[in-house]
Amino acid sequence: MRIGILGSGLMGGKLGTIFARAGHDVVFSYARSERKLKRLAREAGGRARAGTPREAARDADAVLLAVHWLRFDDILRQAGDLSGKVVVTCSMPMNRDNTKLVVARAWSGAEALAKKIPRARVVAAFGTVPSEVFFSVYAARRRARRPGLVYCGDDRKAKKVAVELIRDAGFDPVDAGPLRMARFIEPFTQLIARLAYETKGGPRLAYRFERFGRAQKRRGHA
Ligand SMILES: NC(=O)c1ccc[n+]([C@@H]2O[C@H](COP(=O)([O-])OP(=O)(O)OC[C@H]3O[C@@H](n4cnc5c(N)ncnc54)[C@H](OP(=O)(O)O)[C@@H]3O)[C@@H](O)[C@H]2O)c1
Repeated sequence: MRIGILGSGLMGGKLGTIFARAGHDVVFSYARSERKLKRLAREAGGRARAGTPREAARDADAVLLAVHWLRFDDILRQAGDLSGKVVVTCSMPMNRDNTKLVVARAWSGAEALAKKIPRARVVAAFGTVPSEVFFSVYAARRRARRPGLVYCGDDRKAKKVAVELIRDAGFDPVDAGPLRMARFIEPFTQLIARLAYETKGGPRLAYRFERFGRAQKRRGHA
């Protein structure tokens, strides 16, 4: 797959590296220095390269949007037309100093993004774990028990693309339903951030949902 990375920081840099190592064709874009983008591409290996946001988006089968909420308009302007594109966003609608969500409950950052690019096919994924855990999860990808990763979106085909990327990164995809579920996923991410950065265990944290018993019809809860 051809993947354009829009925002090559902690999230985009690591996920782009993993996608490249998993065999995808990756273009890193949008950092404050071109040198950094080139270094990322060199270290990722494979067919990774550095480019502008427009170059990253142009031929991409999927783009990963990994920028601060306040940079959405700038990156979308630089990326150009995203009509028909699969846009996987890990971005959270945080205030300037990343201390709180600026939208929640009745609306989500992912929906706000989809409204800005109505012809694109937006999926929210990867934002529910700290960037610090990605390389460890990727290294453990052949284990039978993988961590989960929730994702949501309204476009079935775009979700299939996201599932492939989630699996390639070493996670088990957990379909949370339509994009509006991001209203719950984004606050859940706040919980993960709290556990990752404000408890003793450290930020290399992922999660896994377990089901017990056989799948049942939705009538009873026993
Ligand atoms: N970090 C996490 O663990 C985590 C977890 C879940 C969700 N998220 C969400 O994911 C998104 C990305 O987070 P992140 O931690 O990867 O952020 P980050 O490390 O700050 O990366 C953002 C990228 O945008 C670039 N950028 C910022 N201002 C720019 C400008 N004026 N011109 C060009 N490039 C600019 C940065 O450039 P430089 O590389 O030069 O700094 C960087 O490459 C955010 O919405 C965040 O809330 C992050």
